[in-house]
Amino acid sequence: MNRNITSIVAGVPVTGAPCGRITSTNPAQASEVVAEVSLGSPSTFVAAARAAREAQSAWADVPAPVRGRAIAHIGRVVEANAESLARLVTREIGKPYAEALGEVREIVDTCDFFLGEGRRLYGQTVPSEMPNKQLFTFRNPVGVVGVITAGNFPVAVPSWYLVPALLCGNAVVWKPADYSPACGAALAELFVHGGGLPDGVLNLVMADGETTFAGLEHALDEGYIDKVGFTGSSAVGARIGELTGRHLQSACLELGGKNPMVVTPTAELDLAVEAALFSGFGTAGQRCTSLGTVIVHESIHDDFVARFDKATRQSTVGDPFSDVVFGPMLDGKFAERFEDYLGWIQPHHSVLGSTATGRITAANPREGFIGDPDAGIFCHPTIVDGVREDDAIFRNETFGPLVGVTTYRDLDEAIRLANAPGYGLSSAIYTTEPAEVFAFRRGISAGMVSVNNSTSGAEAHLPFGGNGKSGNGSRQSGVWVLDQFTRWQSMNWDYSGRLQKAQMDVTELTPDESFRLAD
Ligand code: UN1
Repeated sequence: MNRNITSIVAGVPVTGAPCGRITSTNPAQASEVVAEVSLGSPSTFVAAARAAREAQSAWADVPAPVRGRAIAHIGRVVEANAESLARLVTREIGKPYAEALGEVREIVDTCDFFLGEGRRLYGQTVPSEMPNKQLFTFRNPVGVVGVITAGNFPVAVPSWYLVPALLCGNAVVWKPADYSPACGAALAELFVHGGGLPDGVLNLVMADGETTFAGLEHALDEGYIDKVGFTGSSAVGARIGELTGRHLQSACLELGGKNPMVVTPTAELDLAVEAALFSGFGTAGQRCTSLGTVIVHESIHDDFVARFDKATRQSTVGDPFSDVVFGPMLDGKFAERFEDYLGWIQPHHSVLGSTATGRITAANPREGFIGDPDAGIFCHPTIVDGVREDDAIFRNETFGPLVGVTTYRDLDEAIRLANAPGYGLSSAIYTTEPAEVFAFRRGISAGMVSVNNSTSGAEAHLPFGGNGKSGNGSRQSGVWVLDQFTRWQSMNWDYSGRLQKAQMDVTELTPDESFRLAD
């Protein structure tokens, strides 16, 4: 099915294409058109934010348990459409079908978690320092949330914002990635139909990055946006943080990673290799949680690298509807950028993992490739051994199927190397020594730590987020994300019939601090 996609403002598809039309194609089969998209302008974003502003207060008045029911229904409708949504994810961004099904599962998990939160969304009753006075806390919705997401998780990661934001009583303007518009439109439909959401509660904007930024700037100036959630690169995240900071807002930022995996001498090497393969090359290395550098103890380096090279050479790459470790790049622009990163390989590196590097084509083949490499945008998996601390390849995220390998002598050095690039999203250690686990946990700057597990594959109800170049400390998922989409309000209620002054009209008991027990 070929879709025609437009922005949707206050429940109405926007006519015309003020910023032109683009075509979304299948990255595994470039001749296949997945959708035709009409791009909105900055004013489309502003109109969407205004519509959200108009709808928000009535949505906040819907009792939270009823909003929780809406989330429950969304979860069920997503589940009933799981296969067709997963197929669309595979067609539009090339994620292997099994992984795409897992991605859809992550939406359902998120709905399952939050459907009950509608009956909690607890505030507190708190004792006052004075009699006949009671203190309370309430969670209030923030207002209108602007959500801007990447296309590597075109439906799961957006749901991490949309589900809690809506549950908490906010209205939303969502701008999906311009290379996953069909997934964006499908998810928005599932939310609106599944949840029975009133018009304007969830608005969809189709636009490129710069147009969105301009629209966001304008909408913030007009006072239509109260919170921004952004998943994408560290560079754009810094711009969004700066822009929202000017409006005294703190954005929820989920940015890149250079995620380390430390492999210690006591590690079960085959398990570590399996994890390196999955987290390094799954989704063609295009997760924010993808493995960046393996930091392996010098005593087991050669053994680890030999096994990792063998496993990578044997892994299947190709048609994402087949049983492959990874399929194509998400979109042509990621393949181009990846070729730039390959330019960082230097003479002191050894390159392993495949029959060649760069694009997989009939002229530059990969052994065991499934399908026609020339039909899509596929890249060779690449292991770069011998990376050093000051190499560009060690210090920067290389979004794509590339894993660096370096060595360490003692755990302090491993932790220092793991933190050195300045990101802080995910990390992993393979060891059977509990003391090493806790030393690593204490020393690593990442928001997420895996022990004998890969850097990717976080579960949907633990706090997700990073530090340093990976984010500003905001956390998504589970109960922790509630602090992103609500603001605490405190209320005190004095029913004493007089003005009792805090800190002044407080009864004092008289202690005898000189009291001592008799020996
Ligand atoms: C991302 O790439 O932005 O932990 C999110 C994981 C997934 C989410 C990745 N559950 O790999």
